[in-house]
Amino acid sequence: MSRSSPSLIDLIAAQRAPVVRMLRVIAGASIAATLGAGCADSHFSHPDFVESPSCTESHAWQPLDALDLPAPRTHLALVANTQVLTVVTVVDETGTRCGDATDATTCTEAFDAATIPTSEGAHHVVSTDGDRVEAWTGRARFAELLGTIDTPDEALMMVWSEGFTVECGSVSRSAVREVEGGFEVIARKTVRDCNPIVTRRFVLFVSSAGEIEEIASEEVERMDGACAGRRPEGLEPARGVRGPSAVGRYLAEIARLEASAVIAFEVMERELLALGAPEALLRAVREARADEVRHAEVMGALARARGARVEAPVVPSRPLRDALAIALENAVEGCVRETFGAIVGLHQATCAQDPALRDAMRVIAEDELRHADLSWQLAAWLEPRLDDAARAEVDRARARALVALRAEVAIDPDPELARAAGLPSARVATEIVERIARSIG
Ligand SMILES: [Fe+2]
Ligand SMILES: [Fe+2]
Repeated sequence: MSRSSPSLIDLIAAQRAPVVRMLRVIAGASIAATLGAGCADSHFSHPDFVESPSCTESHAWQPLDALDLPAPRTHLALVANTQVLTVVTVVDETGTRCGDATDATTCTEAFDAATIPTSEGAHHVVSTDGDRVEAWTGRARFAELLGTIDTPDEALMMVWSEGFTVECGSVSRSAVREVEGGFEVIARKTVRDCNPIVTRRFVLFVSSAGEIEEIASEEVERMDGACAGRRPEGLEPARGVRGPSAVGRYLAEIARLEASAVIAFEVMERELLALGAPEALLRAVREARADEVRHAEVMGALARARGARVEAPVVPSRPLRDALAIALENAVEGCVRETFGAIVGLHQATCAQDPALRDAMRVIAEDELRHADLSWQLAAWLEPRLDDAARAEVDRARARALVALRAEVAIDPDPELARAAGLPSARVATEIVERIARSIG
């Protein structure tokens, strides 16, 4: 099969195209887009609407302390089981979880079980009172818990119970105002999560009895594409990321993935040795492995400092693979996902508001740029050794990985996490993927 125009691989093979420079250009554009948006993308005004009174200075929404409940509770947690990072996000918590339980382990297990999504939704309040653990899921249960809806935050909690997003920092995304008989709320919701992914902005009326009515809505984001991402071969999913904050849990998951990258480079070295790869490539693989050991240590320390528990990665051992299998994995995990990850790393190194994480990302992002470059060098060495049919298969795998990545990044990350970790919004991340797709050729 002949290619109509030279791909990045052809260019690297011919003249060592500057992959790192290309990635820096893409990262520069995405960082500029985030900074230009000023963390608020409001283009239309909302007279009388205000942010939740429970927005903190760091733009976290923490409504639980201000609630006036018909029946007092010793502990409450607002828990979202989002699919974005496959972790449970504790949005807010008041009181001590299982603090007066006679059996803390049983109580904690019941709490974890209560955060599993049900047919009523994935947004819950979980209360623990003594040994009693209760999940409040869906509009009717929230109304039962909250009683009369007579504060702005109770109105926001009602729409949150229905899967809408409540954020701080921009009234175009989340806001509330009191009207006769209740409140009007502005909130976003992903109304289709597959083919295409669609997010709409709504103006909703929340009555004092907790009924919700749509007043207006508009589409704000749409993303076509497949919905399933390919996971690293053999890496088993996390058993359950635990920690008191979204940032801690995110860091714990990243630490686990960094540790799994150590194993990936160990396997890569053995497989490339067997294929007779040049020493320069093997040296770069060994250096990358050493980088990943440091990354896992740094991220693990940051996660533990935030109270999160870090899991070790589980990757079953397997026989060495042939050149096609290695090229297929490299096309997906290296040329697409590591390349994207390196650019996101640069974005985090500039945009993360958590100072320790930002400092760590300044070092890690530079390493990850080299790893992305290594993926392309490996592709440039390995793929010309394949026959035409195998090369076409690798090209198709790379294209499919881009489609999967587009779908993965189409949902905005948890807003508190995005700010702390400097993660790009769905819009910026999508633009990064598009630029990678154009650069791959
Ligand atoms: Fe890494
Ligand atoms: Fe890496």
